[in-house]
Amino acid sequence: MSAREPRGALRLRSFAKVNLGLEVLGLRQDGYHELRTIFQTVALHDDLTLRPRPSAVSVTCDHPGVPTDERNLAWRAALELRRHAGLERGVAIDIRKRIPVAGGLGGGSSNAAAVLVGLDRLWRLGLGPDGLLRLARRLGADVPFFLFGGTALGIGRGEEVYPLRHQLRAQVVLVDMRRPVSTAAVFRRLDAGLTPRENSHTIFRFVSRDLEGLSALGGLVNDLEPAALQEAPEMAASVARVRAILVSQGARLAALSGSGSSFFGVFGDATAARRARAALQAEGHDAWRARTLTCSAYRSALFAGRGLGAASR
Ligand code: C5P
Repeated sequence: MSAREPRGALRLRSFAKVNLGLEVLGLRQDGYHELRTIFQTVALHDDLTLRPRPSAVSVTCDHPGVPTDERNLAWRAALELRRHAGLERGVAIDIRKRIPVAGGLGGGSSNAAAVLVGLDRLWRLGLGPDGLLRLARRLGADVPFFLFGGTALGIGRGEEVYPLRHQLRAQVVLVDMRRPVSTAAVFRRLDAGLTPRENSHTIFRFVSRDLEGLSALGGLVNDLEPAALQEAPEMAASVARVRAILVSQGARLAALSGSGSSFFGVFGDATAARRARAALQAEGHDAWRARTLTCSAYRSALFAGRGLGAASR
């Protein structure tokens, strides 16, 4: 594969996700929340390079907001895998950021999963996504999803992942609200006013319906949005405006991703998505257009070969 550089380095694309819907059922005994969510990978990605080293694990990143020590999930992923495999090898991980940091697009979790998948190949461990699953779960609730990508149902803490038979093919317009939000803080705010749901409604309706025509997207909600707006109240007016623009341009779904603060719209065709992006940019918003990636497109695009249309700004 063309992903290998002459000196044995491996280049990977680490993709972003959005949550097409997210329901919080209640607080669990372990302090986490019981979720039902639909994950979706999109073609916006960070670039990762893994360079074999004799023994040290290190991280470099071009974004000043990303820690390069043990707080970095990619760093922890390399250490966990090395321990699991009983190896003494090292790796230098370089991350070029495009995915907004702390934006609800899963950038850190995606980087960690890409490191697991990449080192599995580089160190010839042969574990595959199923063999990496336990390690991924330990790293964070969103990490297991990024072993598979595509359109998937997430349950439990979000870490129990089921790829769906109907993979969504659509255009997504992503808006960086330029306000990093702490996921833990949003969940804490949610707890203050949480009325546990009896059951999951919108997610299971979505899963049981045919996705043709994007019609199933209409009923989806994100239970974290009110808490995210309490956490970052200065964002409320611009979120309302961004939603209005996306909807007026024909978005089939306009929602906050995860705990925010990135907002997104889903469109059936590239022309409408392009127009929506232009309308957002005309009002000074940071907006990208990216297509959704199905499970199989995700797996084949992870190893940075050629031919994938990157997200356009
Ligand atoms: O698993 P991860 O470290 O990504 O989660 C970040 C934080 O979000 C957790 O520390 C927890 O406070 C909160 N969380 C939660 N319930 C979930 C997922 C995350 O309360 N299902």
